[in-house]
Amino acid sequence: MRITMIGAGYVGLVSGVCFADFGHHVTCVDNVEEKVAALKAGTIPIYEPGLDELVKSNVKAGRLMFTTDLKAAVAEADVVFIAVGTPSRRGDGHADLSYVYAAAKDIAHAMTGFTVVVTKSTVPVGTGDEVERIIRSERPDAEFAVVSNPEFLREGAAIADFKRPDRIVIGSEDERASEVMREVYRPLYLNSAPLFFCDRRTSELIKYAGNAFLAMKITFINEMADLCEKVGADVQKVAKGIGMDKRIGDKFLHAGPGYGGSCFPKDTMALVKTAQDNDSPVRLIETTVAVNDTRKRAMARKVIAACGGSVRDKKIAVLGLTFKPNTDDMRDAPSLSIIQALQDNGALVHAYDPEGMEAARGMLPDVDLGDSPYDIAKGADALVLVTEWDEFRALDLRRLKPIMNAPVLVDLRNVYPADEVHRYGFEYHGVGR
Ligand SMILES: NC(=O)c1ccc[n+]([C@@H]2O[C@H](COP(=O)([O-])OP(=O)(O)OC[C@H]3O[C@@H](n4cnc5c(N)ncnc54)[C@H](O)[C@@H]3O)[C@@H](O)[C@H]2O)c1
Repeated sequence: MRITMIGAGYVGLVSGVCFADFGHHVTCVDNVEEKVAALKAGTIPIYEPGLDELVKSNVKAGRLMFTTDLKAAVAEADVVFIAVGTPSRRGDGHADLSYVYAAAKDIAHAMTGFTVVVTKSTVPVGTGDEVERIIRSERPDAEFAVVSNPEFLREGAAIADFKRPDRIVIGSEDERASEVMREVYRPLYLNSAPLFFCDRRTSELIKYAGNAFLAMKITFINEMADLCEKVGADVQKVAKGIGMDKRIGDKFLHAGPGYGGSCFPKDTMALVKTAQDNDSPVRLIETTVAVNDTRKRAMARKVIAACGGSVRDKKIAVLGLTFKPNTDDMRDAPSLSIIQALQDNGALVHAYDPEGMEAARGMLPDVDLGDSPYDIAKGADALVLVTEWDEFRALDLRRLKPIMNAPVLVDLRNVYPADEVHRYGFEYHGVGR
């Protein structure tokens, strides 16, 4: 199969390189010239474990190429995936589809022969219809079909998720296109990955319903954590106790500072908007969005309380800035709101992240970025663990205590057992324990 991927970001690059690794011939197109130049020179613009080697081996094997020339790449493709961004639209929270529609227009003018156009970007119900309408109106003569194939990979585990997915959802109403999609994913279903076919609108909604459900599950356990603190229960044991029930499951039941990242915040919001527009409000998700929004500043209040009621002119050392470990993605990371709230209250924030420092420099200009946890802890009045990178899981508390101004650990990810931290003379504040 000759596959062209429009957009070489977190999803387009990982999907493209994995398709190449299956043996397909893949061209990744991006309109940011520096990104394409970097990829051509063998530099990966994002941090994703294992991606570097996989790109190198597939480029070497001649199956993977990078270009800014959309026209040439689309002209020779059997299948064109749209994997451009769909951020929240400024002002109203709907998904901004301008990048998707611009790509559709460009594809229309470039395609030759029967072409399957696949939206891999997360798009609201009905977007496939509009993509089809755009292409048809630009190129009434073209032979094509528009398919929905939402992506479920998680940053930080993206390659494994792509290669061993729980399911592959394909929304197609064209038998010829469905056959092509079967061929695209054939190397995977030999491995018994379940291909799930449905109509295009259903497929588009599955993606939002899935993300909204997971966001709701996280928010549920976060509210239980707050209740645990009030009544003297332990949220980790509550999560374990309910998670052992197979109807509930034990995943996504870790209490913390609220969900963030490049997907859940924008996708829950977009679903709320779609539902309102269709006069069928999703109240559970509206509440999830509202509860999660207030949670991040509430985490800053937890830090303030741990510092005796004020952080004015105090040094707060923040460990972890990315929205989760094993990515450099800072989009909508909880750290951003927590740090802002601490600064609003007069704190001097110092921070360290294993991979997010470059992105952080642009987004957090008033934060002092250090070289290691020990570097930022010097003279600090509290150490706040925001993102649970592995390197923060076994901090040398014996070394930290004498260099800090006050031995206070606020563990927003419940990584440490309280009694162990107490043993080293630290005050410990977790979430829901
Ligand atoms: N990041 C994730 O974990 C994840 C997971 C599942 C689904 N998604 C969805 O996948 C989509 C892409 O997300 P992402 O995180 O990869 O975004 P991203 O911003 O990392 O990548 C998008 C890329 O598209 C490029 N682009 C935009 N318009 C273009 C055009 N006309 N021609 C060529 N290139 C163009 C941009 O330069 C950018 O490199 C979104 O809809 C997102 O919701 C993301």
